[in-house]
Amino acid sequence: MATQARAEPDSLAAHYAAVRALSLALAASLSDADASLQPMPDASPAKWHLAHTTWFFETFVLRDHVPGYRLYDESFAYLFNSYYEGEGERQPRARRGMISRPSLDEIRGWRAAVDEALLGAIGALPADLIVLGLNHEQQHQELMLMDLTAAFFENPLRPAVWPRAPSWPSVVPAPSGWMRGAEGVVEIGHEGGGFGFDCEGPRHRTFLHPHALAERTVTSAEWLGFIADGAYADPLLWLSDGWAWVQDEAIEAPLYWVKEGDGWARFGLDGLQPLDPAEPVSHISYYEAEAFARWAGARLPTEAEWESAAASLDPDGGNQLDRAGPVRPLAGETGLFGNVWEWTGSAYLPYPGFRPAEGAVGEYNGKFMCGQMVLRGGCCATPRGHARASYRNFYYPHQRWMVSGLRLARDL
Ligand SMILES: [Fe+2]
Repeated sequence: MATQARAEPDSLAAHYAAVRALSLALAASLSDADASLQPMPDASPAKWHLAHTTWFFETFVLRDHVPGYRLYDESFAYLFNSYYEGEGERQPRARRGMISRPSLDEIRGWRAAVDEALLGAIGALPADLIVLGLNHEQQHQELMLMDLTAAFFENPLRPAVWPRAPSWPSVVPAPSGWMRGAEGVVEIGHEGGGFGFDCEGPRHRTFLHPHALAERTVTSAEWLGFIADGAYADPLLWLSDGWAWVQDEAIEAPLYWVKEGDGWARFGLDGLQPLDPAEPVSHISYYEAEAFARWAGARLPTEAEWESAAASLDPDGGNQLDRAGPVRPLAGETGLFGNVWEWTGSAYLPYPGFRPAEGAVGEYNGKFMCGQMVLRGGCCATPRGHARASYRNFYYPHQRWMVSGLRLARDL
């Protein structure tokens, strides 16, 4: 993902083509109706994701850097601007599902025109902005999969987006061991020299107290123990906001867990499947992760502890997204990258010395640094090549439609 390595037009064009191809592949099997579904305000239609990433390139790269460039359709900015106040009025987020026109095919036509204009001028365009656009598009590829899962779950037929994954024997693992972490002054944050979002820097010193991280993430079998112990009915295990959320929303299991007879099934892009107890638990909120850690006599890692442990590992390893097809957390994956995003106990706040990026894209990250918690590591729906040790994902504590799990930590 190094900007410098991709600054040559040919390699940048190849990178662009590869990311674009994955977007089109993810949407290839969707009907116009599938691609227009918006199951909740937090989730956007698949078609909107495709259009919005196209809008990002057309606006911030072509309009701003190609003299005389004419917009494909001037009405699209209102429809497909997400949250950029500097770019003017926009369709309310919760009403994106009302955009039944333009059609999915028309969006594909727009993207083809933007591709042609961008690739035709790529040698004269700012490579750093194109690389930002590609990383932005990869974020939306993951969001598209999360949002499709939420949309298809609303259908009582529980249809699969893609054919079911082949089943494989999985063995419920023994209790997790512990990895002792670094202690004392360490440096975290993006080192520079390759792509990183502005919120990943500046690199800075921080202090780690003696601690250990679990060798793997928490499994569904362990979560079943949490449920069986009555944890969802015990207010003493929950943060005050978390307990209010459990009661208001009548929460009794992770999102997409469905009671079947005496047991549970779980829904995913491969439809409704028997719950695999060996699989890592996913689709849990921060509140649930925090309560589980307390129930287990442990705590969540801080993001500095997590990053310190991950810094020497290969961020492209593990179970991540390579192509359209079954996407699910895999049993037995123990690495820090891929499989499930891991909730940390750290609030999403600016690092010392943080300044948002210059220009319109300065609205990208900094303005969301209030009330959200950091997750680390990427997941099975994260495009491979997108994750890195310094990557800071963030969600509100009640949200859980992303592939979110947890790894325990403890003080030593
Ligand atoms: Fe976006």
